[in-house]
Amino acid sequence: MEKKNIDWSNLGFGYVQTDYRYVSNFTGGAWDEGVLTQDANIVLNECAGVLQYAQTVFEGLKAYTTEDGHIVTFRPDLNAERMMDSAARLEMPVFPKERFLDAVNQVVAANEAYVPPYGSGATLYLRPYMFGMNSVIGVKPADDYQFRIFCTPVGPYFKGGAKPLTIRVSDFDRAAPNGTGHIKAGLNYAMSLHAIVSAHQEGYDENMYLDPKTRTKVEETGGANFLFVTRDNKVVTPKSGSILPSITRRSLVQVAQEYLGLEVEEREVLFEEVQDFAECGLCGTAAVISPVGKIVDHGREICMPSGMTEMGPITRKLYDTLTGIQMGRIQAPEGWIHVIK
Ligand code: PLP
Ligand code: COI
Repeated sequence: MEKKNIDWSNLGFGYVQTDYRYVSNFTGGAWDEGVLTQDANIVLNECAGVLQYAQTVFEGLKAYTTEDGHIVTFRPDLNAERMMDSAARLEMPVFPKERFLDAVNQVVAANEAYVPPYGSGATLYLRPYMFGMNSVIGVKPADDYQFRIFCTPVGPYFKGGAKPLTIRVSDFDRAAPNGTGHIKAGLNYAMSLHAIVSAHQEGYDENMYLDPKTRTKVEETGGANFLFVTRDNKVVTPKSGSILPSITRRSLVQVAQEYLGLEVEEREVLFEEVQDFAECGLCGTAAVISPVGKIVDHGREICMPSGMTEMGPITRKLYDTLTGIQMGRIQAPEGWIHVIK
């Protein structure tokens, strides 16, 4: 299989149109059998539920070329399950797990020429999503839906790769106490756009959101969960009902305990504790683990002891082990790696 002529090592996190995407329609109360198509465009009625009331949910996962030349995905079953939870919360029909897994495999296999080579630093990002398709003018769920998966080769989510980030505490909230922060709904990301644009204008890479009710506890960023490391090498990660249950974070907790022998605490994390931590990282499919060097709270700077040039030592070990598992250099726990080819 001849690869596309792409400068893999210099890709950022952007959209590169690939050859095939998967489409399945839900009409008359049932999903059709689904098909791969070369048409990247969607024609919708002007009154489609997704356009009027933002009835859309999505997922994000990656395909990797392993050291021995296979193409694999990482825990796609958890993406399938999370998308089912997201859909149910927005009163959408669920796309069955087995069909989700099959569609992922079809899209990756059909776009093999776009799967970045081993060692290039790039990966193939898959974006499953689903939206209300028919016209809806009173506020209610749509009747008809479309499920799609496209893919695009990507490099690091944050410019500068593994260079530590500077983030700020946001005055805006991304989720409400009994809202939709725990699911992957497009509306959560629309909510975060003003905050991210103003953070960038002020020179920050991302926002740290605090719990919307008391504004005393750390939640997450716009697209990643937090992992902290204490000065005595414990991994601490916030527990909250209004953050996205990150698959990367759940995997890293297991990696920390079982591969690195570290103690892990999943608990509420007060913002006031952050100044005492030794390392901080953002974890997610896109972010992998991106180190944070500085957190700014309304002018007060909290500088992580790990500094602004390197990942902290525990963050580095977590990063190397996780990516080692994903790229086939390190034996994965049972069921984590799905071989496509
Ligand atoms: N938190 C938010 C808000 C996200 O958008 C993402 C990305 O999917 C994550 C966390 C990380 O989740 P995962 O590790 O499953 O990609
Ligand atoms: C992902 O990591 O897959 C996400 O969806 C995060 C998004 C902000 C790119």
